[in-house]
Amino acid sequence: MAAAGKTRSCGAFYFSLFSLLSVFSLSESWFSGEASRRKLSVELNPGWPSPAPPGGDLLHVRAVGDNNTLHFLFCSQGAPTLLLVHTNTSSSTVNVDWTQFLSRNVSGSLKVEPESSVLYSTAVIFSRLWEYDDVNDTAEPTSDLFPPYELQNFTWSRFNLSGPNALLCGATTTFANGSLCLQLSVFDSEGRGPSLPRLLHTANSSQLGVWLDGVLPRATRSRFLLELQAVGGVYPLSRVEVHRSIDDEFTPSIFKVSQWVSSVNGSSDVLGFLQWKPVAYRQSVPALEDATPCRHSDPRPQSGEAVASASGLIRAFYAEPEAFGLNVSFGLAGDPFYNSTKFLSWTVLLGSGSPPVDSFSPLVLAMMAVGLGTPMILLLLGGVCVCVRKRAAASTYEPIN
Ligand SMILES: *[C@@H]1O[C@H](CO)[C@@H](O)[C@H](O)[C@H]1NC(C)=O
Ligand SMILES: *[C@@H]1O[C@H](CO)[C@@H](O)[C@H](O)[C@H]1NC(C)=O
Ligand SMILES: *[C@@H]1O[C@H](CO)[C@@H](O)[C@H](O)[C@H]1NC(C)=O
Ligand SMILES: *[C@@H]1O[C@H](CO)[C@@H](O)[C@H](O)[C@H]1NC(C)=O
Ligand SMILES: *[C@@H]1O[C@H](CO)[C@@H](O)[C@H](O)[C@H]1NC(C)=O
Ligand SMILES: *[C@@H]1O[C@H](CO)[C@@H](O)[C@H](O)[C@H]1NC(C)=O
Ligand SMILES: *[C@@H]1O[C@H](CO)[C@@H](O)[C@H](O)[C@H]1NC(C)=O
Ligand SMILES: *[C@@H]1O[C@H](CO)[C@@H](O)[C@H](O)[C@H]1NC(C)=O
Ligand SMILES: *[C@@H]1O[C@H](CO)[C@@H](O)[C@H](O)[C@H]1NC(C)=O
Ligand SMILES: *[C@@H]1O[C@H](CO)[C@@H](O)[C@H](O)[C@H]1NC(C)=O
Ligand SMILES: *[C@@H]1O[C@H](CO)[C@@H](O)[C@H](O)[C@H]1NC(C)=O
Repeated sequence: MAAAGKTRSCGAFYFSLFSLLSVFSLSESWFSGEASRRKLSVELNPGWPSPAPPGGDLLHVRAVGDNNTLHFLFCSQGAPTLLLVHTNTSSSTVNVDWTQFLSRNVSGSLKVEPESSVLYSTAVIFSRLWEYDDVNDTAEPTSDLFPPYELQNFTWSRFNLSGPNALLCGATTTFANGSLCLQLSVFDSEGRGPSLPRLLHTANSSQLGVWLDGVLPRATRSRFLLELQAVGGVYPLSRVEVHRSIDDEFTPSIFKVSQWVSSVNGSSDVLGFLQWKPVAYRQSVPALEDATPCRHSDPRPQSGEAVASASGLIRAFYAEPEAFGLNVSFGLAGDPFYNSTKFLSWTVLLGSGSPPVDSFSPLVLAMMAVGLGTPMILLLLGGVCVCVRKRAAASTYEPIN
């Protein structure tokens, strides 16, 4: 009877040892990250014969996965636009009728074929830049708004490509020597951006960095707002969720993540998203001390026609665009004005499916493993020793019984 009791308590020790080991192997699989890779191919102005079409470039990044493809289309015909099309085959293609595409007056000049393979599409348009004179340092854009900069009227550079990344800069005459730049990055696998805010991305998302460099402000106390439009077919991005983020190692001091998502009739299924951390940086090499918080307004329905006339890509792809717009404002009351550094950068992800969720970082996991694991291992080893000794003792006594 007594021997059976001892065996049971030893079993409990072995069980806890086993669970500890499985916790370690679980965290190890987090370290390595699930291997969900896509094969990327890049094409500038697909189907256009000569070097550069008039009015702006069109970049196509094809990201092929198992049995599905994501097409990322980035275009500077009008306001800069990034369109994401998700198809259920690995052989879908993009077809552009350039004559119609450049005339920008009919839809259907850019097609993803076969059209029956398209599961979902969404686009983001950077439509306007607002500036206001924050005389009383309230960071509330009220009456002292300057006329907005219409990004569709900017002079845009050609795309500067490096692999699946594209840099686009534009300006208007009053910017002096300054510019507004957008940097698109498309990824073949999960990872994090190299610089702050170090957003976590998957192979199903692309990243856009936006920055305002050296622009001559119209007032000493100027602050800026960036107006974004999200366009979709049946299910446009319509609501913004703000979640707590546990990740404080990669984006120090920022404990929130905002995601602008589409939803199917109010269900919790998310088809596509724009995701960002509510932070911008006031230096071109971002550091913690240059962080400035940002806020967003509630998404509001917009005229699909207005968005299509601002963006050549939206006109070409969507017959009946449904659009929602919001403003992202940079800086809170008391924060330095734009004039202090003449630089502001912000980063956002556009992707299909559910947005990436931060888990504890490897460093935090390692610290937890060392902090909690070491005493547990010592306890367990002690337990095992006791078990082994008692067994040894039991086996020596047994013949006598
Ligand atoms: C891809 O589709 C084929 C045929 O429909 C199926 O046999 C295969 O399991 C699918 N692969 C994946 C990774 O879904
Ligand atoms: C679109 O514009 C082209 C020339 O810019 C013109 O020839 C064509 O008729 C227009 N189409 C429509 C539907 O307005
Ligand atoms: C892709 O989706 C379309 C429409 O939903 C469907 O008709 C087609 O069979 C699907 N193809 C594959 C390979 O699943
Ligand atoms: C700034 O404050 C002054 C004095 O309180 C007030 O008269 C003025 O209307 C304020 N300006 C703005 C733009 O809020
Ligand atoms: C921007 O361009 C559009 C179309 O060309 C034009 O209607 C509008 O007046 C321009 N806006 C500004 C502020 O120049
Ligand atoms: C393109 O970008 C690279 C780095 O991103 C930069 O060094 C180069 O000068 C750029 N080229 C042009 C033509 O702007
Ligand atoms: C713009 O750059 C040129 C050449 O670098 C310089 O001479 C000029 O003063 C600059 N203008 C402004 C407004 O900074
Ligand atoms: C990416 O999208 C594909 C196709 O919808 C899906 O099978 C896969 O699970 C997604 N991967 C991630 C990391 O969300
Ligand atoms: C969503 O709701 C509309 C009407 O409210 C309905 O026509 C449509 O079928 C619904 N779609 C889904 C996927 O439930
Ligand atoms: C962005 O802010 C400006 C200025 O307050 C406002 O006129 C505009 O309607 C806002 N845009 C959206 C989409 O809310
Ligand atoms: C802000 O702008 C004013 C003129 O518009 C200039 O005199 C001042 O030096 C600027 N401040 C900084 C910090 O650049």
